[in-house]
Amino acid sequence: MVADAWEALRRSLVYFRGQPVGTIAAYDHASEEVLNYDQVFVRDFVPSALAFLMNGEPDIVKHFLLKTLQLQGWEKRIDRFKLGEGAMPASFKVLHDPVRKTDSVIADFGESAIGRVAPVDSGFWWIILLRAYTKSTGDHSLAETPECQKGMRLILALCLSEGFDTFPTLLCADGCSMIDRRMGIYGYPIEIQALFFMALRCALVLLKHDAEGKEFIERIVKRLHALSYHMRSYFWLDFQQLNDIYQYKTEEYSHTAVNKFNVIPDSIPDWVFDFMPTHGGYFIGNVSPARMDFRWFALGNCVAILSSLATPEQASAIMDLFEERWEELVGEMPLKISYPAIESHEWRIVTGCDPKNTRWSYHNGGSWPVLLWLLTAACIKTGRPQIARRAIDLAESRLLKDGWPEYYDGKSGRYIGKQARKYQTWSIAGYLVAKMLLEDPSHLGMISLEEDKQMKPVIKRSSSWTC
Ligand code: GLC
Repeated sequence: MVADAWEALRRSLVYFRGQPVGTIAAYDHASEEVLNYDQVFVRDFVPSALAFLMNGEPDIVKHFLLKTLQLQGWEKRIDRFKLGEGAMPASFKVLHDPVRKTDSVIADFGESAIGRVAPVDSGFWWIILLRAYTKSTGDHSLAETPECQKGMRLILALCLSEGFDTFPTLLCADGCSMIDRRMGIYGYPIEIQALFFMALRCALVLLKHDAEGKEFIERIVKRLHALSYHMRSYFWLDFQQLNDIYQYKTEEYSHTAVNKFNVIPDSIPDWVFDFMPTHGGYFIGNVSPARMDFRWFALGNCVAILSSLATPEQASAIMDLFEERWEELVGEMPLKISYPAIESHEWRIVTGCDPKNTRWSYHNGGSWPVLLWLLTAACIKTGRPQIARRAIDLAESRLLKDGWPEYYDGKSGRYIGKQARKYQTWSIAGYLVAKMLLEDPSHLGMISLEEDKQMKPVIKRSSSWTC
């Protein structure tokens, strides 16, 4: 199966002027509609990149980083609106002209994407990948080039800019990440907050301490401090926390308020009372005024573990949740992208009647094999590889036989997704990365960050939070 996966991964390689620069999203010739699955997606390339790095083939990753960096330099417009300089594309495509024998590139920054969604995650993944490349090869020269330093600063300038915000989290429109359709994740979605945190920490080690770099380093340190406090305090939900929210009083004014966001206890959905185990917890989907989205999202929680946004206690509680709620979160195919599904009236209102995101399908409670690598990495980081082994066994019983689908449908992920592509590259690469991580856990270092002791709040003589 591993050999088959490697063969399929290599078949998905995309070349620009003879050099490999990425992998296409899906190699599915049977599917009548290609849409944009023949493009190189930044987020989809991450597991491919990790597989190549772990296999000692870093060149393709370097070429990808440089190619996307070039694309960042383009002038980006949607209708008459000019996008921020730092924006990274969701995807790009190489066009081969057989007559003139030339290659050219087109990129999509959201101006062609269904719904014109903004790929907020792309820039963060780019920084995370630059660090993975640097860590795995020991080659600092790429990250230290003026081009890479500038690319990072441009991404950071976009997400560290000051505005009207009252929170350190990053405000986003719906569909801004792997979930790139309307799914009620607008506001402060966990996936983006976790990637934001991780990208900031990666940038902190990659930025040079020159005049321009220093300015950003200072801003990053301040933001990380506020962001980790906010996330760990307000996004975290466990049995105790749920109990507290259940008892919340509302309409509290002034800084002494306990219920800071004025969440009305009646808005807590019924399912969460049953879902919450006595041991275990997770970062919820979203927190904003009078709104807590209690849904579970796998990517954000796994990235929170890998980046050490989660404290060691929180990381181990998330793993407890996986064990306690295995049927719900893993079922027959790892891993549920979100839980639970939204249905009926709520589905109509939240998704705008999206026929692709019906209950227990696609982004709405579907199961995505690509998430296996994130689960495996989180398992290894928390010292619980046996959980990953169990999940990999499940994937091995179906993935190859089913032709590496993009996603599965159904409450327990039993059915191949209604509109799932076959030979979906990140399903293939995700499996390979999971296998390699389990075989050689030392690979974890390229995609994981140790806890930063500086960020740990220590109570000193006074009761204020200090570092
Ligand atoms: C879908 C997914 C997105 C992915 C893309 C390419 O749009 O929602 O996360 O990047 O397909 O596979």
